[in-house]
Order: sequence, then C-alpha cells, then structure tokens
Amino acid sequence: MCDRLIIFDTTLRDGEQSPGATMNLQEKISMARQLETLGVDVLEAGFTASSPGDFESVRQIAGVLKKTQVASLARCNREDVDTAWAAIKGALHPRLHLFLATSPLHMRHKLCKTPEEVLESVDLNIRHAAALCPNVEFSAEDASRSDPDFLVRVFDTAIKAGASTLNIPDTVGYAQPGEFAEFVRYIIERTPREREVVFSVHCHNDLGLAVANSLAAVRAGARQVEGTISGIGERAGNASLEEITMALRVRADYYGCLPGVVTEQIYPTCRMLSRIIGQPIPLNKPICGDNAFAHEAGIHQDGVMKKRETYEIMSAESVGRSSNLIILGKHSGRNALRRKLETLGYELEEKEVDLVFEGVKYLADRKEEIFDEDIEALVLEKVYRVPDRYRLISLSVQSSDAAIPPTAAVVLEARGEERRQVSFGDGPIDATFQSICQVTGRRPKLEKYQVNAITEGTDAQGEVTVRISENSVSAVGRGAHVDILRASALAFVNALNRLAKKEEEGGGQTW
Ligand code: KIV
Ligand code: ZN
Repeated sequence: MCDRLIIFDTTLRDGEQSPGATMNLQEKISMARQLETLGVDVLEAGFTASSPGDFESVRQIAGVLKKTQVASLARCNREDVDTAWAAIKGALHPRLHLFLATSPLHMRHKLCKTPEEVLESVDLNIRHAAALCPNVEFSAEDASRSDPDFLVRVFDTAIKAGASTLNIPDTVGYAQPGEFAEFVRYIIERTPREREVVFSVHCHNDLGLAVANSLAAVRAGARQVEGTISGIGERAGNASLEEITMALRVRADYYGCLPGVVTEQIYPTCRMLSRIIGQPIPLNKPICGDNAFAHEAGIHQDGVMKKRETYEIMSAESVGRSSNLIILGKHSGRNALRRKLETLGYELEEKEVDLVFEGVKYLADRKEEIFDEDIEALVLEKVYRVPDRYRLISLSVQSSDAAIPPTAAVVLEARGEERRQVSFGDGPIDATFQSICQVTGRRPKLEKYQVNAITEGTDAQGEVTVRISENSVSAVGRGAHVDILRASALAFVNALNRLAKKEEEGGGQTW
C-alpha cells in the first residue's frame, strides 16, 4: 500500500519570480484552473503583501478553485499574515504559508535577529495565523544551511503554535541528495509532536539537483513536495513537478509513495505555461520536451517497434502527449474545436470558444492543416490577452531597395483614438517598432526578440516573443501570425499593453 504524497505547486509564486515569467491576472486564473485539473493538492497563488496585483490575483484564484487548497505566502509578521488571510479567506480550502529564515547567515545578516528572537517571532505569528485559519504551513527559509538542532526547536515551536505542515527549503540549492535525505530524516525523527503533521521539502535547482534532492527527501519521510511546472522559478528554478510525479509513478516500487496528479494532464499544463510565459520547453527536457519520446538511433527504433518497454520507461500517452486524434481544418465545426480545446486542457466559455473559432476559420483559409500548437497560439492571442490600451489596426511594410530604406506604415488605436505613422528603420522590424513607438509616445528598450515557427511547413504561423523595459519595469509580449512582420508588431503592442498594465498595478512583484 502506497502513501499519499501531497503536491504543493508554487508556479504562480516562486515560479513567477523567474525572470521573464510574469503573468497577468487572466493568465494566472487560467493556470490555476489547469493546475486544479492536473490534480495538485495545494496551489500557492502568490505573495499577497508583495503588490496590489498579487493580492488581487490570489483573491480571485481563491474564489475560483473548488478542490485545491489555495495558499498565500506571508512573512512572519502580523501585517503580512492579515493581508494574506484577507485574500484567501474566501477559498473553500485556504492555507496560510508563513516563512522565516533559520540559518545563522540569514538570521545574522539579513534579519538581524538572534535565534531566540526568531523562535519568538515564529511562536507569535503562527499563533496569530492559526487563530485565523486552521491550515497553517511554516517554512524555515534556508533550512538546509541551518543548525539541525535549532531547526528542531523552531519546528517544535511552530507545531505547538498551530502549524500542521513544516517545510524544509533548500533555498539556495546547496544540498546534496544523500546529505539532504539524512538531514530531513534527522529533523523528522527529532521533532516532538503530539498530533499528526506533514514534513515538506522545497528545493531550488542551482546545482541541478532540485528533483534529486526532493526525491531523496521523500525516501527520508517527507510527505509534501513543493515545486513548479517545468521547474521555473527564482534563479535556476525550483524542482520540476512533472519530473517528480513521473519518477514517483515509474518507480513506485522504490518510493512507495504516490501523488494524486492526473498524469495525462501534465503535457497540456506544461504547454499552457510555456505559451503564457513565452518560453519554449527545451527540446531535451524530461517528460515534456519534444525529444523526450523521440527515438533517433536505428537500434532503438527497432527495439521500440518490437517491444515499447525496451527503450521507453513510460508511454507518451501517460503524460498526455496524445497523438493528433482530432485534426482541425477548413471544414471543422465548433464542436470539434471544443473537444480539441478540452483535450489540450482549456476550459473556455462559449464566447471564448467563438473567438478561437473565428481565428481557426481565418487560419484554415491560409494553412492546410491546423495543429495543436496553432490552437494554443490562438487561445493566447484571442482569450488571454490583457485588455488592450493599444490595438494594432493595420500594418504595411516595405523592405529596403537601393534608394528607400525599410519603411513601415502603422495604424493603431491608442486610448480609443486612431493614429497613423510612417517610419524608416534599419530593417523592416525596426521600422515597424519605430512607428509603434512614435504613435504610442513610448520609448522602451527592446531586451529580447525571438521568433519561433509554431509548426513545421512554409505556411507555419510565426510566433514572436519580445521583452521590453522602461523605467525599470519590464514586460513580455507575444504575437502569432502567418505573417512574421505582423506577428512582430502584435508582440510589441502586446508588450506595451502589459507594461501599461503593470504600471497601473504599481510595478508588479517587489520581493
Ligand atoms: O526558497 C524558499 O526558501 C522559499 C520559501 C519562501 C518557501 O521560496
Ligand atoms: Zn523558493
């Protein structure tokens, strides 16, 4: 009989701290819904005290999820705890997640607190949190570099004050698997408790060991693992939840512990995240990378054809990488599209399906076959875009010839008013961006410009991702179109809209 492992997803909090991974409110709600469909047990929706935008997204996610616990992070102080509680108290299953550093380095240099003061703060603030919410988690930040006997005292205090989950983060990705397992086992064995509590781990990937350390901790008795989809997160990221889930499934014989994740939803979830943050899944990424189930060597191909298990330890279908069973084209109807959207993990309202359907018809006149990736690009384009302050109406670009430099004419709606501009540039993309800057009166720095073909073939849609920044605020924008110049203009306008939105919300994440 296997134990149940609790999966705590922090894609929308620690994951969003990853450079370039900011999501808008609508995108966070869609991700939260998908994570619930995936079957994560706890979803950390944000860090409410960090910005008004974070508070609002946590509050709205708390109102949407039905089965999944919704957590908000809070520092160990009364104001943070009250703010977090105000945002999650409407959830069906709320969880307050408090953290305070316990390593000598952090206590002395960052907190400027003595160990006794840290214990006092844990006691006081967890008591306050537990009086508000029956479900309280405490994280000892930088636990892996803390004195184990002091950590035992901290957890003893936290449990007596009302915490029911005790988290052991490897905040800076310093731990090594064998050593971390011993550390976790020591803490679990020594921490006194009169009621049942859960020990959890939260590993960062600075040395590429986040998944290995998490799994070693499971062997040592941890029964909650924290991580993110695709391992996105602060610096080199967090432990990748899809890798942990599949390791526990494939090697259930070894771990004797299973999560409640619906593994067939793994691929749709990773794809959705990748589209939303505009970062492609690396080809060789375990589980969801394009090469994860591709067999190139003849001997391997031969083996797999004779018996799949010769070179595959899990099936592509088990992680939701279904073959394209429903192929959409010119003659497909709304029902086929709705079913396709469901298999891709999108639960859309009727009017949103209509918007995507319009896009499918437009594409079908220009492309022979519509791929899953096209549909996903359309969903992002038509449904998840932030309400636009600027909207591209028309674009006409001329490449250079001997006498005339590249020229772009742009018609744009800005705050309800139609504006036009023609500009020269160093190339057609530069000319397009120049025109958009003139029309909007903005002068952001272009930090990144990336083009990907969404599918194969010369009729493929091009997907452009740009990152821009102005006055220390940065934003990512995406655009997809069969015409790469138009996709570039859409991405640039999308980034300007997101920048404007962030400025309205007060600058986004501050922690
Ligand atoms: O890495 C870390 O220590 C954290 C805590 C706030 C849980 O993210
Ligand atoms: Zn972290």
